[in-house]
Amino acid sequence: MAEKVLSVNNLVINFKTDNGILKAVRDVSFDLYKGETLCIVGESGSGKSVTSKAIMGILANNAIIAGGNIIYRGENLLEVSEEEFYKIRGHKIGMIFQDPLSSLNPIVRIGKQITEAMLLNADKLRLMYNDLISDDLIRYKNTLAKMNIAIDTERKKLDAFIAETKAAEGQTKEQTAAAKALIRQKKAEFKQFEQQTRAQYEGKAREYKEILNQTEKKAKEQVAEYKAQVTSEHKAKMAELKQKLTKAATAEEKAEAARLIAQEKDEFDNKLSITKAEAKRRALAIMKEVGIPEPERRFNQYPFEFSGGMRQRIVIAIALTASPEILICDEPTTALDVTIQAQILELINRIKQERQLSCIFITHDLGVVANMADRVAVMYAGKIVEYGTADEIFYDPRHPYTWALLSSIPDVDSKEKLEAIPGTPPNMIYPPKGDAFAVRSKYAMNIDFEEEPPYFKLSDTHYAATWLLDERAPKVEMPKIVSERIKISLGEESK
Ligand SMILES: Nc1ncnc2c1ncn2[C@@H]1O[C@H](COP(=O)(O)OP(=O)(O)OP(=O)(O)O)[C@@H](O)[C@H]1O
Ligand SMILES: [Mg+2]
Repeated sequence: MAEKVLSVNNLVINFKTDNGILKAVRDVSFDLYKGETLCIVGESGSGKSVTSKAIMGILANNAIIAGGNIIYRGENLLEVSEEEFYKIRGHKIGMIFQDPLSSLNPIVRIGKQITEAMLLNADKLRLMYNDLISDDLIRYKNTLAKMNIAIDTERKKLDAFIAETKAAEGQTKEQTAAAKALIRQKKAEFKQFEQQTRAQYEGKAREYKEILNQTEKKAKEQVAEYKAQVTSEHKAKMAELKQKLTKAATAEEKAEAARLIAQEKDEFDNKLSITKAEAKRRALAIMKEVGIPEPERRFNQYPFEFSGGMRQRIVIAIALTASPEILICDEPTTALDVTIQAQILELINRIKQERQLSCIFITHDLGVVANMADRVAVMYAGKIVEYGTADEIFYDPRHPYTWALLSSIPDVDSKEKLEAIPGTPPNMIYPPKGDAFAVRSKYAMNIDFEEEPPYFKLSDTHYAATWLLDERAPKVEMPKIVSERIKISLGEESK
């Protein structure tokens, strides 16, 4: 199995609004593996953007993170301070939004916007230091995170057990006493587990911390040594060049010496930080990488001088300046017309491959998903209702909401929507009881209005939260439109 680069666990996000608490994200969990594209798909308001904003740490002020964690390189991103986040920089998360205009400053030239993003991370000595300590730092933080997650998971199990036992408490005194005793026992077991786990991990964590301290010390020395060496070389060179300048007899010799001095200064600066000249060189290279023709000329233009597709390329270029490891794309092509959309999708796919990025791709369009996804998470009313590999979701969908989405993809030939999803998404201030999709689903059973369905496992990679998968449920076939389409596309594939 590929390396896990990001892990979202039981994320719960609410918003304070004038009308009450809006439940935008309700217990969302998913992993992102290295090099893959995970598509999150769902109707408007299902919580896709809120989830991605939580990962980026850019939630609106009225957001309340009511539970869960987002683990990246051993850190819970919901807890790290800005400064701490920068310590792990170099391995980062970039984001591309739906509307390129809103992510660009209309009155600043494109070139400046790209280089500014680079100059933010211009301190090469700092980068060097971070690189030197990064492995040990991550190993140490990982150990602590693993410990906290292990304990957290057990604690949640305990809480669930207590809630269940209390709910099921019998009428008789004996039964109540027995339940209480059981809870006491479970609590004691948890305490013991917590102590053991702490002991087990804290030993390792101490050991790793010690190693980290050593590494930090060494890294500091190494960086200082590098700086000293570069500086002394520079001084020697400058002395030599200055002498050359004083000795210069002719105007040409003088000019040549002056040029060499300027060059040496520039090179010296470059060794310590990214200079404006280097930033420009890199910006032009990235502009070329994202397919902007004539980058030298375009460098000095303003956003309004670019077409929508070109603007989105610029936004992608800016996201790439930080050399991210994860790229989150939130409906990056919704505002573009179809041909341009295809080009941008192709560009994102290409960059992802070339740079070995892991990608979270958000869209409401299953047609786009088909072009992008390795795996798919289908979101409805703040929950993931089904997830699986792209093949599992397209050829073996199980949740009625996934069926509805699949039925509503425009047909390739007629471009018509075959079947619109009836009804509208629920008001998330009062999310429905049970399966939130039930009111819109012709397959709904009584239990769907009462109790939330758990995830039923269909394969190691495929899960769906619908009571239809319960063994007591009647056997239900997916809608004809969906099965027909699957048949057609499978037929086409084997041709
Ligand atoms: N700052 C906020 N205050 C109150 N409610 C919010 C806020 N931001 C988002 N919401 C609500 O949270 C829910 C999820 O919104 P989100 O933006 O994640 O939807 P989405 O799936 O990205 O939809 P779309 O496809 O329209 O972009 C919606 O009901 C939305 O109205
Ligand atoms: Mg959105």
